[in-house]
Amino acid sequence: MITSTIRRRKIESFQLEDDPLWYKDALIYELHVRAFYDSDADGGGDFRGLYEKLPYLQDLGITALWLLPFYPSPLRDDGYDIADYTSVNPIFGTLPDAATFIKEAHRRGIRVITELVANHTSDQHPWFQRARRAKPGSSLRNFYVWSETNQRYQDARIIFKDFETSNWTWDHVANAYYWHRFYSHQPDLNFDNPKVREALFKNLDFWLEMGVDGVRLDAVPYLVEREGTNCENLPETHAFLRELRKHIDESFKNRMLLAEANQWPEDAVAYFGAGDECHMNFHFPLMPRLFMSIRMEDRFPIVDILAQTPPIPDVAQWALFLRNHDELTLEMVTDEERDYMYRAYTQDRLARLNLGIRRRLAPLLGNDRRRIELMNGLLFSLPGTPVLYYGDEIGMGDNIFLGDRNGVRTPMQWSADRNAGFSRANSQRLYLPVITDPEYHYETVNVEAQQGNPHSILSWTKRLVALRKRHRAFGRGTLELLRPENRKVLAYVRAYESEQILCIANLSRFLQAVELDLSKWKGLVPVELFSGNEMPAIGDAPSSRWGHTPSTGSRCSRARCPCCRPTAPAHRPACPRSGSPAAGSRLSSAARRSAWRTSCSATSASAGGSPARPAG
Ligand code: GLC
Repeated sequence: MITSTIRRRKIESFQLEDDPLWYKDALIYELHVRAFYDSDADGGGDFRGLYEKLPYLQDLGITALWLLPFYPSPLRDDGYDIADYTSVNPIFGTLPDAATFIKEAHRRGIRVITELVANHTSDQHPWFQRARRAKPGSSLRNFYVWSETNQRYQDARIIFKDFETSNWTWDHVANAYYWHRFYSHQPDLNFDNPKVREALFKNLDFWLEMGVDGVRLDAVPYLVEREGTNCENLPETHAFLRELRKHIDESFKNRMLLAEANQWPEDAVAYFGAGDECHMNFHFPLMPRLFMSIRMEDRFPIVDILAQTPPIPDVAQWALFLRNHDELTLEMVTDEERDYMYRAYTQDRLARLNLGIRRRLAPLLGNDRRRIELMNGLLFSLPGTPVLYYGDEIGMGDNIFLGDRNGVRTPMQWSADRNAGFSRANSQRLYLPVITDPEYHYETVNVEAQQGNPHSILSWTKRLVALRKRHRAFGRGTLELLRPENRKVLAYVRAYESEQILCIANLSRFLQAVELDLSKWKGLVPVELFSGNEMPAIGDAPSSRWGHTPSTGSRCSRARCPCCRPTAPAHRPACPRSGSPAAGSRLSSAARRSAWRTSCSATSASAGGSPARPAG
């Protein structure tokens, strides 16, 4: 009995690949331990609960988990106010719980990314309590940034505009002002003090030694302050990051640094350095432009921001996302663009927060399945690594009536049971109420209900995840934009080694006609990725062009492309010109490897694609 259990376990277990570039092919899933699953009925999630739900995550197919801060904290900024870097908040479990969880995640082939909030601590951190009582000018005092006046660094913007009026707060114990870029209970650490850098390295080593694979560097542009600057992206900050990277590279293998640098593209790429700073950085400017493009039904915002994005070092990778635990930030857009986004996406004024919109993906997109699929199709096929936010894979709703960003941090909806199957606690004890909005009620929007339905958004997401994992071109390939006349269509080719994938997104609500000049790929037979269906070989002009026409009329007489019709992949009719290959006539895997692939995102249906072969 024991032997067979052991044998079964061995078969199930994965070996994490020894690959320093693992993050390029990763699918990252972001979650808060508190929000995922409550194993001990105290009303909040914990590490044991997360451990129990690892099979769900493995089945979903994601390859890395990003955990929001789970350290001891007064939780006045949901854990981003850390009071102890090397321990676990008892409400989430113990250090051994966290260690067991990391091991089990690894055994299931899932890497773990945690948070290093280096910019600031909680005012309850012993470093701050010690600093405010220490002698002015001493190293202990200078763990933080002090001033006798609140007039220094006036060019630095205030980030939490809805809550703070100054970046300085008076401390009556120290008899001085202290500097903070976020809440006033989050004093900024002083990176000019070598002892601070040393202490942070030690804390980081603690988690890396425990097996953590990657670290998100929270609020990284703001580490250093200098008079006469906006105190962002300073050379000293980059020098620190190089020091940090060197430190990690010297002591650990296959670890990753992910910057949270909410900046314009040219400042954001600086966080990759020359491949010697962070491995990854979020593409903040792209995110709102995805939402703009589908609202405007025009590819311009996406194409424009991609054009403004400088090339990045070979080892670097963008982290792409649609939504996360914060408001949908509109800091990296122009004033006009922000006005547009507010008008388009916040019918209810309450949905606005700071310079952003506090909504989840499904409510932002009007719970329109077609648009949700389209946005995910873009997320999964543009250059970078996709980051999914927990709950979005089932189309969870939000609650804008809860304070701050809590409305997008409610309990995961597992089933139609009490508390959405998240917790057995008295409902009034939950850390946040579950979603009961009629449109997104947990009784209908939940994992259990969707697992039983192959057409659910969860099942569709799983297929998308699996598809992406089969093609390295998505994570590692080059990007070539095609420029069809019709601006409602975004088309691009991702290429890596012998693989070429054409992605087509119809950004409009309606069916669109488009002609793509594919003469460069003449002779190849596109194969739609979801179905594996072959399409007509690419020939000479005009046959090197594809037209997408409504089934009733035809502007383009040459071809009707089944992959881009707005129907679910399973229901797409075969293209009359493709010869609809029977199962037996599919390409051999060798041919497929060297073949040409397509992936399409139409408004409603979305990414599809398949391998192809040289024609004839
Ligand atoms: C980051 C986090 C956010 C937090 C802030 C201050 O931007 O994403 O949730 O409030 O840092 O720590």
